[in-house]
This record gives sequence, C-alpha cells and structure tokens, in this order.
Amino acid sequence: MKEFKPRGTLMSRDSSLTLKASLLILGSLSIAHAMPDYSGLPPGPYCAGRYATGRCCAGRQDDCSAPILSTTCYCDDFCNRTREEDCCPDYWSHCKLITLPTIDPPISEIRQCFYEGKYYRHGDTFKSNCNTCKCSSLGIAAKVLCEENRCLIDVDLLEELANQRDLGWRPGNYSEFWGRTLLQGIELRLGTLNPSRSVSKMHPVKRHYNPDALPREFDARLTWPRDISSVKDQGWCGASWAVSTAQVASDRFALMSKGAEAVYLSAQNLISCNNRGQQGCSGGYLDRAWFYMRKFGVVDEGCYRWSGINDKCKIRKRTNLKAAGCRRPPNPLRTELYKVGPAYRLGNETDIMQEIIISGPVQATMRVHQDFFTYQTGIYRHSRVAEIYPSGYHSVRIVGWGESLNYNYPPTKYWIVANSWGSDWGENGFFKIQKGIDECEIESYVLGIWPKTVPTN
Ligand SMILES: *[C@@H]1O[C@H](CO)[C@@H](O)[C@H](O)[C@H]1NC(C)=O
Ligand SMILES: *[C@@H]1O[C@H](CO)[C@@H](O)[C@H](O)[C@H]1NC(C)=O
Repeated sequence: MKEFKPRGTLMSRDSSLTLKASLLILGSLSIAHAMPDYSGLPPGPYCAGRYATGRCCAGRQDDCSAPILSTTCYCDDFCNRTREEDCCPDYWSHCKLITLPTIDPPISEIRQCFYEGKYYRHGDTFKSNCNTCKCSSLGIAAKVLCEENRCLIDVDLLEELANQRDLGWRPGNYSEFWGRTLLQGIELRLGTLNPSRSVSKMHPVKRHYNPDALPREFDARLTWPRDISSVKDQGWCGASWAVSTAQVASDRFALMSKGAEAVYLSAQNLISCNNRGQQGCSGGYLDRAWFYMRKFGVVDEGCYRWSGINDKCKIRKRTNLKAAGCRRPPNPLRTELYKVGPAYRLGNETDIMQEIIISGPVQATMRVHQDFFTYQTGIYRHSRVAEIYPSGYHSVRIVGWGESLNYNYPPTKYWIVANSWGSDWGENGFFKIQKGIDECEIESYVLGIWPKTVPTN
C-alpha cells in the first residue's frame, strides 16, 4: 500500500502559491529562489535514490517523493514553485542539475541579496569596485542598489582592451587604482593645468643640427646611469606639475655638473611654497613652477621631504641653504638654493631628440585618457573606446626613444617616459608611447631648462 502523507497540508501548499516566499534578487532584477536551510539533515541520497539524474517528475505528483527523517520530501517541480521546504535536499543538484552556492553563515532570513557571488542581508552596505551598494528589501523581495560612478579600473573597458588585436600594449588591473573613481584618478593622479595656456606661449628655440645624424635609439638611463633620477610615486596628490619639474631639474643638475651636484630636488618645496596661482595637490601650471624655481630656487629632497599634501611652506628664509635649515650640499661651494634659467619649448620630434641627447631628459605634458591608467607594458597609444570618458593633463619626463622590431610592419617608433605612479606601475614605473604622431599631445608641450650649477673645486 502506498503511503500517503499530506504535503504539509494541501491547503497551505496551494495558498502558498500566492505567497511567493523566499525570493532572491540576483544582480539587478533577475529573480531566483532562496535556498532553504538543509543544514543538520542526513546527507541523502533522496531523489538520487529514486530517479535518474535530471529526470525527476514534472509538475505536481504526490507520489514523487522520497522518505526523509520521519516524513517525506518531494522530487517534483511543484515543490520548487511553492515552498522549497517541500523539496528534497538534493532536488536542485540531482533533478535540476543546479549547484546552489553554499551559504556561510546559513540563511536565517528570507530577504537577502545575492550580488557578484556573495549574499547580503537587508540593510547591508558594501563596496563594488568604486561604488557603494546597499541591499534593500522591497516588500518581500530584496535588491541591490549601487552608486553609478565610473570606476578608474572599469571591468568592461579592461575586457574590451584585452580583446583588441592591434592595441600594441597590454592593459591590466592595479590594486592601487581598484576601488577609486575615474574622477579621483584624474584629480589626484595627474595635476597639470591648462598646458596650452601655460606652455604654448613660450617660444621654441631655434636649433641647428643634422636630424639624420640622430640615433634610432637612445636611453638616458643607460647613457648616464648615475645621473638619471628614479621613478617617484606622487600618491593621491595631483601634483605631476611639481614632481616632473623637480625631476627634470634634478637630472639636469646631475648631468650638467658631471655628478658634482647629484641631488634630488624637492617637489614638496614647490607644492608647499609655490602657491601663488598654483593649487598644490589639486594641480599647477608649468610656467609658474619653472618661474618659481628660476626666481627663488628650491632645496633638495632631504631638506624638504615629500608629504604629498598641501601644507604650509616650511622655508621662510629663502635666501640660502643654510638659512633654510638644510644640510651641507654635495658640492660644498653651493650656498644658494638650486635655481634654473628660463624654461624653453621644444618644437618638434627631432628637436626633442636632439635636446635629450645634448642636455638630458625633458618635461612633457600629455592628455591622459582612462585606458592609460591600466597600461602595463608595450607601446601605448590611446584606444578610441576610452575617448568618450573624461580625461586630464599630466606631466611626465621623457628619457629616451626607440623602435620596436615588427616582422610584418614598419617599425613602431616610441618615446621612453618616466611616470610618477611608483615603480609597480607600467614597465618599472616607465612607459613607452608612440613617437612622431603627437600621441596624446605628448610632443606639443615639451620643455627644457638650463640648471645654474656652481663651479667645483
Ligand atoms: C583588481 O584588483 C583588485 C585588488 O587586488 C581586486 O579586488 C579586483 O577583483 C581586481 N579586478 C579585476 C577585474 O581583476
Ligand atoms: C623641427 O624644427 C627645426 C627647427 O628647430 C627644423 O629645422 C626642422 O626642420 C623641424 N623638423 C620637422 C620634421 O619639422
């Protein structure tokens, strides 16, 4: 004789149809069933002991069941549509071939959100990349509401770039940038204001050289290994205007003095003290930075350390190094702060090359599109898909150039450039960018300066 057990009670089962209990919202609005708590049950088999895999009963069949503890659980689709507590614990995996995510801790509430692989309770807030999200219940269901900022590392953009065949460079994720918005990146990782106003009014110098005699490759780091400064990390301080200025000047003091004045000049000195018309960690103009260094000079890094914040200028007496409280400089004959001559502009590709060979690294300003933040290696050229998003200006230091050897194509010419995002970014802090096509305007605002070195004994 067939055992008959009312399923719960038939009444409650039917009426529960309108109850639609245990709804979960997956992602934005897709709906899935919650998983009942089966913890503490003996591990089956239940449906697996009676039916072939994926072949349990369709619709409501009262005898499509399996014994469980002292009662019965069901292996028909009806149990799924109503109260899942009727379903056997292995109903999902055996009948439906669905692996339910394990929940830790077990679900004790009905209203939960499932988002990007995790469960959240009603009222929970959490971060999804750069956005804050909240699990909110709406009646009996729950859903996740998120802020809609564009993130600095955008997963879709990353994927699109990774699939572009002729990109020429490899994008990647940086944990330092993950969780930040694109606007934070532009405000706090760049920081050069309006180069067309500040740089393009400077006149290019007239130069005489034979462009055909310029080498196809040059790397200041290899030619002058002791004199070229290492890559800095500006952190979340939008002061590339100060960092690149201090670094280009440092390189040139070391080179021009043949190592007698090998110093790291202080970018913080500029951020804190060159404040007229400048905005510290919120950006600055290059002409004003160079003018300040020309008129007042700066001290070295050891005397005015990097803090990466807009603080009050600590150097009150700017007349000489001793009055400014600095230690003895590498060249004992130096008494004044480090000053430079007027900055000059370099008009085109070969002028820039000639300048680097003769006088060392130059300062350049480029327009940074979103994809640049994800650069890891290769020869950068901005992708059109990144053009529609906000961009900003950034100053960097060009240290050389080269050509990549392609088998089928003409060689790609590139600049070798030092960024200021630390040595974990890009190629040990440096990047290559296409040369000769004013990529990202990198050839439009290039500056050189002459350091005022002092004689040696
Ligand atoms: C990027 O890196 C962060 C931090 O390491 C990580 O949490 C995140 O999942 C990564 N994102 C992608 C798309 O790889
Ligand atoms: C670059 O500028 C120099 C003058 O400084 C000029 O002699 C040269 O022809 C220019 N080169 C190109 C490719 O325009």
